[in-house]
Amino acid sequence: MSDNFNLIIKNGSCYINGKLEQTDIAINNGKIEKIGKLSLNSSKVFDATDKIVLPGIIDTQVHFREPGSTDREDLESGSRAAVLGGVTSVFEMPNTNPPTSNLIEFNKKLDLAKNRMHCNYAFYFGATPENVDQLAKLKGLEGCCGVKLFAGSSTGKLLVDKEKDIEKVISNSDRIVSIHSEDEEILNLRKKFIKEGDVHSHPEWRNAECAMSSTRRVVKIAERYNKQIHVLHVTTKEEVDFLAMHKKNVTFEITPQHLTLYAPDCYDKLGSFAQMNPPIRKKEHYDRLWVAVKNSVVDVLGSDHAPHSKEDKNKKYPASPSGMPGVQTILPIMLDHINNEKLSLDQLVKLMCENPCKIFGIKRKGYLKEGYDADLTIIDMNKSVTIKNEMIASKCGWTPFDNYKVKGFPVATIVNGSIVMKDGKVVAESLGKPLEF
Ligand code: DOR
Repeated sequence: MSDNFNLIIKNGSCYINGKLEQTDIAINNGKIEKIGKLSLNSSKVFDATDKIVLPGIIDTQVHFREPGSTDREDLESGSRAAVLGGVTSVFEMPNTNPPTSNLIEFNKKLDLAKNRMHCNYAFYFGATPENVDQLAKLKGLEGCCGVKLFAGSSTGKLLVDKEKDIEKVISNSDRIVSIHSEDEEILNLRKKFIKEGDVHSHPEWRNAECAMSSTRRVVKIAERYNKQIHVLHVTTKEEVDFLAMHKKNVTFEITPQHLTLYAPDCYDKLGSFAQMNPPIRKKEHYDRLWVAVKNSVVDVLGSDHAPHSKEDKNKKYPASPSGMPGVQTILPIMLDHINNEKLSLDQLVKLMCENPCKIFGIKRKGYLKEGYDADLTIIDMNKSVTIKNEMIASKCGWTPFDNYKVKGFPVATIVNGSIVMKDGKVVAESLGKPLEF
């Protein structure tokens, strides 16, 4: 028999029910139709011998800069970088210009994404002190993953820094509120710690207490109203210890850069190219973030892909903007950490496939299961690659991991049943669709 299926993934080691199982996966009309040793055929077979087949990797924090800064990135280039890195779905952030903080801008972004994105996508709705009424009516909004609240200012103009406004947003939103957790008052008070021309002072200015103070505040509010919040890019040992005791209403994210780089080395080596918010901190924080991964206290990994041009990053600190690209490197970096026994493959799948679906309520993704969407990431744990700036598809054209050697690499990305990346090349155009919740 032939042509029964659109695509068959043969002989892969497939991640099913928490175990790797040598089996085949048959795909039809964008869905996983059958899992099992198949004698059936298809005109299209992907030989996954010696490869691992994972549910599609989901990056729950990217900034693709459209509209507003499309010279840095756009929805097409950012999502191209995503699939090259084995990522099948992204949550994109609202600190664009104009910000995505009303329905008109939200729908414009959905229109811009249509037939241009290579991976599946959802967009955050940005919170402001004025749009609380709107935040109470987001349920069912197509392509919306939740509300983003900047409690401390970062790139862009979105900011909800007053406690009464933060409380209004968290208590009224009918979707999960994801928070950039830094205390704006402390940020302003500590500006005196900024040393012009010395990016080493970045984590002195935006210190651990600045993050912890904000996190304590938002967690208390969430608990008071029994609302679900998600704390983005947690960076301090104090927050890890605190959040470990407050899991009922709160989930949280760590980024691969905070698990791979630490101060002062990263600033010695990369200068302001290592500058981001919240900052990369000393090794004692890095070590505790790894404890959070080991003990499965952290819920998701997100890249906080935040591209800026080389020219801007080369400006004298603090004129240099905060942020670094990461959507293309998040999986290779984490696979390398798996090969170095810093975490298990099982933990990675929970952090980047299953938990994003559970926390945000994404439908039919996160697992290799019959009837689920055919989003798959195929990896080769033995493939060694030296990451290079020239490989980066993001318009910014650089990575903090230039010349970083990894073992473990994605070799194919399958989105909605079609192979969109194979052996480092994009082989199908813009098949991404909005995620359903
Ligand atoms: O470093 C950062 N850059 N942190 C953020 O929260 C925003 C991001 C950006 O958009 O550039």
